[in-house]
Amino acid sequence: MDCFDVIEKRFSNRKFLEKQIDSLDLDKILKAGMQAPVGRGKYDDMHITVIQDKSLLNEIKNLSDRSAFYDAPTLVIISARDDGHGLDKENSACVAMNMLFSATALGLGSIYLNLVIGLIKNSDVLNKLNLPDGFVPVVGVGLGYIDGKRHIVKHNIDVNYI
Ligand SMILES: Cc1cc2nc3c(=O)[nH]c(=O)nc-3n(C[C@H](O)[C@H](O)[C@H](O)COP(=O)(O)O)c2cc1C
Repeated sequence: MDCFDVIEKRFSNRKFLEKQIDSLDLDKILKAGMQAPVGRGKYDDMHITVIQDKSLLNEIKNLSDRSAFYDAPTLVIISARDDGHGLDKENSACVAMNMLFSATALGLGSIYLNLVIGLIKNSDVLNKLNLPDGFVPVVGVGLGYIDGKRHIVKHNIDVNYI
């Protein structure tokens, strides 16, 4: 799959099989995340947490009656330390996108998650992430095998040429 195929095939998967993803695939996805551009090259200000522990996933699931991560068997939390330049959101989004694209290239389902972050930040789960001092969760990524159909939709954004 070339880059454009991957972009075309990526979609937000909201139904996952229970089966866990292969650890080699996970490793590739994490390494892809680490290759993302990060403002001022401050990779030390980024942190990745992989949650596969079923009891913690269940605890996170029970934080809301809305599906916050769609029972993805792997939930990745990207955290950042704000060094005063306010780039934590952008940096985390770049890391997340590399993960979504690499998961797609591997034939896996993936989803960018924001709701789950607010839930975690306002609960005891935050301490259970064991984040280094000063780091705050910014983006969640759900990963797993796709259960059912791929819901690929073509999107459009207005463009003006000057
Ligand atoms: C910043 C951001 C936050 C998002 N948060 C959530 C979320 O919490 N839950 C969810 O189901 N989808 C979330 N999404 C996925 C979007 O709803 C989805 O990307 C969009 O509807 C386009 O669909 P597609 O990804 O299938 O192309 C988020 C996407 C972005 C970029």
